[in-house]
Amino acid sequence: MSPSGVAMLAGMAAGYGFFAYVAGRFLYPSGKSNRAWMFVTAAAEFAEGRSMVFRTPAGAIVNITRRASTGQAEDFIALSAVCPHLGCRVHWEGQNNRYYCPCHDGIFDPSGKATGGPPGQAGQSLSSYPLEIRSGMLFIEVEAGRVAAASGIIEESAGPEGPGHDPCLQPAVYRNPGRNRVC
Ligand code: FES
Repeated sequence: MSPSGVAMLAGMAAGYGFFAYVAGRFLYPSGKSNRAWMFVTAAAEFAEGRSMVFRTPAGAIVNITRRASTGQAEDFIALSAVCPHLGCRVHWEGQNNRYYCPCHDGIFDPSGKATGGPPGQAGQSLSSYPLEIRSGMLFIEVEAGRVAAASGIIEESAGPEGPGHDPCLQPAVYRNPGRNRVC
């Protein structure tokens, strides 16, 4: 990597680290026991159709996606990024207008309702988190029992990864021959 590329990466790491520091401390009570509103980002900087991955203070991973541009909190949706089937990472596929779990081809519609794969068969939809906009800033209501140092935005879009549920060990009906991975 060139020296300028290294410098750019170092600058980005410093910037995101500082942002996580600020965001991790931008909490205020929600009025519910052990819950708090946490700053996500300026709504204007979150383009329609984009999705970002957010880590709550308790360590939960959440996909936050912008679906419209009316300026209301309803433009956004925050859904657990943990597949209710066996816990793999779910990510947003804007081109297919769906959330997808690569482990066993779990499919969820834009509201988080399971529509395909094992979650669809079992009716296991993605859990959601409340969102609100205050003065142009997007906030998410999260559990506030403890604060993780790395809470806040962790990446702008999630990759097709899972925590260890090997699709090659699953029945063939759950495998997808079009996937990059070769079983
Ligand atoms: S873990 Fe998501 S479909 Fe199986």
